[in-house]
Amino acid sequence: MPDPSETSLDIQFSVPFVHRLRVTDDVSREDLPQLLSVIEAGSGDRAKVLLIAERSLAEPTTRIADQLGQANRIDLVDAPVLVDGGEDIKNSSTTVDLILQQINQLNLDRRSYMVAIGGGAMLDAVGYAAAVAHRGIRLIRLPTTTLAQADSGVGVKNAINHFEKKNWIGTFAVPWAVINDASLLQTLPDRDFRCGFSEAVKVSLLKSEAEFSWLCENADAIREREAVASKRAVHRSCLLHLKHITHGGDPFEMLEARPLDFGHWSAHRLEPLTHYRIRHGEAVAIGVAIDTIYSSLKFGFPEQDMRAVCKCLDRLGIQLWHEELTPIERLMQGLEEFRQHLGGRLTITMLRGVGDPIDVHEIDHTTMRKAINQLQQIQQELAVSHEPKVGSKG
Ligand SMILES: NC(=O)c1ccc[n+]([C@@H]2O[C@H](COP(=O)([O-])OP(=O)(O)OC[C@H]3O[C@@H](n4cnc5c(N)ncnc54)[C@H](O)[C@@H]3O)[C@@H](O)[C@H]2O)c1
Ligand SMILES: [Zn+2]
Repeated sequence: MPDPSETSLDIQFSVPFVHRLRVTDDVSREDLPQLLSVIEAGSGDRAKVLLIAERSLAEPTTRIADQLGQANRIDLVDAPVLVDGGEDIKNSSTTVDLILQQINQLNLDRRSYMVAIGGGAMLDAVGYAAAVAHRGIRLIRLPTTTLAQADSGVGVKNAINHFEKKNWIGTFAVPWAVINDASLLQTLPDRDFRCGFSEAVKVSLLKSEAEFSWLCENADAIREREAVASKRAVHRSCLLHLKHITHGGDPFEMLEARPLDFGHWSAHRLEPLTHYRIRHGEAVAIGVAIDTIYSSLKFGFPEQDMRAVCKCLDRLGIQLWHEELTPIERLMQGLEEFRQHLGGRLTITMLRGVGDPIDVHEIDHTTMRKAINQLQQIQQELAVSHEPKVGSKG
């Protein structure tokens, strides 16, 4: 008979992870050494590297490839793989399959590196392929949108969509390194540049009153793509997300709350309802506004701050209404999908004040309906405030 103490074992263990973040001005030119510095060659080996990039980033990617090709401890296994970006890449498994085929044909292994250059959607899909091939190939992310630099780049998740639900297939995987490079944002259209800051507003509302005030004061400069203000906003948001992941105690979301998903229950529902015509950042802005208004109606979040949140998102240049928000009952199905994604009881993060989150397990549908109606009113008021005044000069 085995000793009973050896047949029923619950042993806690932890695995040390390192999160590597580098912030650069132009990684395809003078800052390339920063990329080289995170690629380790094994003992005596040359590191195998495969570059995968969105087509719109072909130019800087070619420059990076040319220089990596000359580095003597790097074995660039093939020409960069160019893929289409945007949410479509997550709506089928086509790109994931293509990347898995490349990994197989090029004999990449767990000590090889995939360098992914693209927006949040592309990084999610490529990250998923990297995570499941050989149970994990080293992934270096070079995010190319404000949203991906401010949030998802340092995230430890990847996914593609399935069953018309966001992120239904995916894994948790810590990236090998993340390089937030300012020059890669230059070609980003204004719409994508602006909506990424909704995640910065979100995380500031959860974590930092000072950061929220700063964003409100600098929203116009950020909308106009002023370099210093935008760079600071992206970096502070990235650090707040990174700190939550590395020091928040629950990087793989085993517990019931997902505070970084503030505003996301409705955002994740709105995205498929619009057939992904709305951007994730735009849906998040609407979701953050809805839950902030609900917080003001239900948890004493000050009305003045609630109006400041809507105004800040509006001044960043993001629309706070979409026609698919109604009928409201259809949107509310997002609450159950949000619960199912994690399992257990419904847990939604709301706010008592800026920097003062609270987890709640029930949503009062009548109040939520009121909040959504109030958002429509606020959006109309904000739209009127943008119209040129009759008789005003210029
Ligand atoms: N894994 C996570 O932790 C996490 C966190 C937040 C969001 N996300 C996911 O990220 C996705 C949204 O990412 P996003 O906001 O970066 O949008 P996106 O990846 O869809 O990119 C937006 C558009 O910009 C294009 N683009 C990207 N970089 C460009 C550049 N430098 N120049 C020109 N065009 C460029 C893309 O091709 C696309 O058309 C969503 O799928 C969301 O679910 C994941
Ligand atoms: Zn998000």
